[in-house]
Amino acid sequence: MSLSKTTFGVIGLFYLCLLSSAYAHKKHAHHEESEKPKHNQEVQLKRINAMYLERVKPIFQKKCFDCHSGETSYPLYANLPIAKSIIDNDIREAKKHLDFSNDFPFQGHGTPKEDLEEILESVTDGDMPPLKYRVLHWGSKVTQDEIQVIRDWVNEGKKILETPLSQTKKVDRIQASRGKEETCPY
Ligand code: HEC
Repeated sequence: MSLSKTTFGVIGLFYLCLLSSAYAHKKHAHHEESEKPKHNQEVQLKRINAMYLERVKPIFQKKCFDCHSGETSYPLYANLPIAKSIIDNDIREAKKHLDFSNDFPFQGHGTPKEDLEEILESVTDGDMPPLKYRVLHWGSKVTQDEIQVIRDWVNEGKKILETPLSQTKKVDRIQASRGKEETCPY
């Protein structure tokens, strides 16, 4: 009686061990699968957004959000009937091209890389904010210091986006194999 009890005990333990080993492998395989390229792209965009929030967003809030976001503070002259519809038209047009409302990556028709390039171009060329807006909003011109902040962010962002995926994958693979050693002693 006690012998068969022990036998069952051993067999039971053996199965338990087998099950948990299979589970550990399965969990690991899933982990590896779900965190490949999509994950990489997300990590890249998140890093660019973190830099954006810290350094660039305060500039855009002051000088771009009136047209390129849902946060418009209308000027006094917007009370004039025609002025309001002209402004709203501008906002609609601006947001269609580029909407800063939900941070980076921005909504609009461009890819993240195109957006970065166009933003830098628009401020270095002095196209944005548009002249008619600058005339009415004193101090809305982007300063040289602000352009430098935007330039640094765009260049760093482009570098992040251009880092070959294969390089990131390799790092992922190394991390994955490290994880294997830790969670799977079988
Ligand atoms: C008075 C409203 C207004 C303000 C303020 C403004 N923009 Fe614009 N922006 C527009 C309009 C309208 C368009 C679309 C038509 C055009 O390209 O002129 C546009 C287009 C753009 C484009 C081109 C996007 C594309 O895909 O073609 C970029 C880039 C841009 N704006 C960046 C900025 C930045 C950066 C700021 C702040 C420094 C800014 N804008 C401030 C109205 C504005």
